[in-house]
Amino acid sequence: MSVQSYINKNQERFLEELIALLKIPSVSADPKFKSDVFAAAEFVKDALEKAGAENVALCETAGYPIVYGEKIVDPALPTVLVYGHYDVQPADPYELWESPPFEPVIKKTDAHPEGAIFARGSADDKGQFYMHVKAFEAMTAQNALSCNIKFMIEGEEEVGSENLDLFVKENKDKLKADVVLISDTSMLSLEHPSVTVGLRGLAYLQVEVTGPNRDLHSGTYGGAVANPINILCQMIASLQDEDRKITIPGFYDDVENYSSAYRENLNKAPFDEADYKKKLDIEALEGEKGYTTIERTGIRPTLDVNGIWGGYTGEGAKTVLPSKAYAKISMRLVPNQDHKQISKSFESHFKAIAPASVKVKVTPHHGGHPAVIPTDSVGYRAAEAAIQSAFGKKAIPTREGGSIPITSLFQKELGLDPILLGFGLDTDAIHSPNEHYGVKNYLMGIETIVLFFKHFRALSDK
Ligand code: BES
Ligand code: MN
Ligand code: MN
Repeated sequence: MSVQSYINKNQERFLEELIALLKIPSVSADPKFKSDVFAAAEFVKDALEKAGAENVALCETAGYPIVYGEKIVDPALPTVLVYGHYDVQPADPYELWESPPFEPVIKKTDAHPEGAIFARGSADDKGQFYMHVKAFEAMTAQNALSCNIKFMIEGEEEVGSENLDLFVKENKDKLKADVVLISDTSMLSLEHPSVTVGLRGLAYLQVEVTGPNRDLHSGTYGGAVANPINILCQMIASLQDEDRKITIPGFYDDVENYSSAYRENLNKAPFDEADYKKKLDIEALEGEKGYTTIERTGIRPTLDVNGIWGGYTGEGAKTVLPSKAYAKISMRLVPNQDHKQISKSFESHFKAIAPASVKVKVTPHHGGHPAVIPTDSVGYRAAEAAIQSAFGKKAIPTREGGSIPITSLFQKELGLDPILLGFGLDTDAIHSPNEHYGVKNYLMGIETIVLFFKHFRALSDK
């Protein structure tokens, strides 16, 4: 039997297993789900063992464990290191889900006429890393594993992979490989398969603005005492000018400016602005002046408020001038911005623009470096060849707006350029209610991964 026939024959079970994994609410951000996150790690460990991996182990960290497993066919063969994450984003707001986030259902959508699995983590990243487990199972079962394989599936990606740094630094030998393969990104569509060649970095901070020492009656004191929510809104608004340029001094100092040839090429990727707006129910787009949407999300930095709160938000009305206001602010970064430096610049600027009537506290959260992947490596060419074989089309290289901080860590610590072979779609609603992952994307992904191994081996031999 060919590997592909094995996949076809077992596709129902491949889906059922993914559904079982999706039922585990492994939300890393919320300690309430601690035992579930551990349960997901156990699930992955079992799945790797059943698929034929050896030396499978839960590697302890200061946080959630990293699941490791490997199959060394022959030390002389090239080795592929697969990275993924079994943790998921919180499912809130629950009331906006059409079906419960941890009770997967398959439904058809416009983008997924063959059906998509609706569940938190379906596309990010359980459905995507599990393709690798099943591709590995299929290759092993058919005696067709053409490269050595190592798995490293972590449980803290959605909270900044803070313990991964140390793990990678301490286990360079164990993780030694010829290429890193990651499926945790999107493709343009099944009609326009793409490979991600750039990810943005991230600087994430929380700010706290304090006015009076207690909540006040907004009639008695309003007009005379600074309202920290009003002030916070003014401060945030001033962080971007009318051209949507970020006003933090030095913010653009290290930003790589691309040649017009590079930008022209980037803009050749298929993009339908009307459709993009329609899918989001918006009448107009907005972003940094002088750049296209593809450039704004791919090669330009941004600043966004992720959450803002304070004062009274309950039922009805309460007249109050609050003592405090808060916001969570993130900046997406591009080469060669340094997230630590940017966090520092943000902090000093934010304090500098605060009026004397309030006190400001800034607390940095996690961060991550941007990454750019060269397209002339054996790994990239193997990905291109795999896509060509599976889809009959040339892969389009894309720069994506999201962040996977481990990408630059692999580059720096292991000297390897990860191949970002993702099969999600931008419309899959990752991090949102009703996240879903196409059944066809899942199966095509497994097929393409198998082909990657074949081509990576063949191209490495040359
Ligand atoms: N898989 C995403 C990153 C991603 C999404 C890349 C879409 C490309 C396209 C990953 O799980 C993620 O959500 N990363 C976080 C950063 C992390 C430090 C919390 C992000 O991008 O917000
Ligand atoms: Mn992810
Ligand atoms: Mn994510």
